[in-house]
Amino acid sequence: MKAHLFICTNSPHKEGKCGHRGSERLRQSLKQRCRQEFGDSGEYRVNSSGCLGPCENGINAVLYPEGRWFHHLTPDDVDSLFEAMKVAMSPNAGSESGNVK
Ligand code: FES
Repeated sequence: MKAHLFICTNSPHKEGKCGHRGSERLRQSLKQRCRQEFGDSGEYRVNSSGCLGPCENGINAVLYPEGRWFHHLTPDDVDSLFEAMKVAMSPNAGSESGNVK
């Protein structure tokens, strides 16, 4: 697996939590975009996760194997996550690090 992204979708009905901020919508949009670009390759996953910890910085996500974190995402941040997935899926994966947001 080249890119395994976890997006926190915790507590959609609780204010201040990633799920309440629209993270499931973000996840579905990103999955669709990845499917268009990468097909049904088994080399990536876009999974939902429970609380990742820093709720006040949500929507939070983390990309493995890099361990790269994303904070303050909105449901419209498909492009930035997709670009990170694309880098992770590229032959040069692992040459970049750090947080995007
Ligand atoms: S609810 Fe998403 S990090 Fe806690």
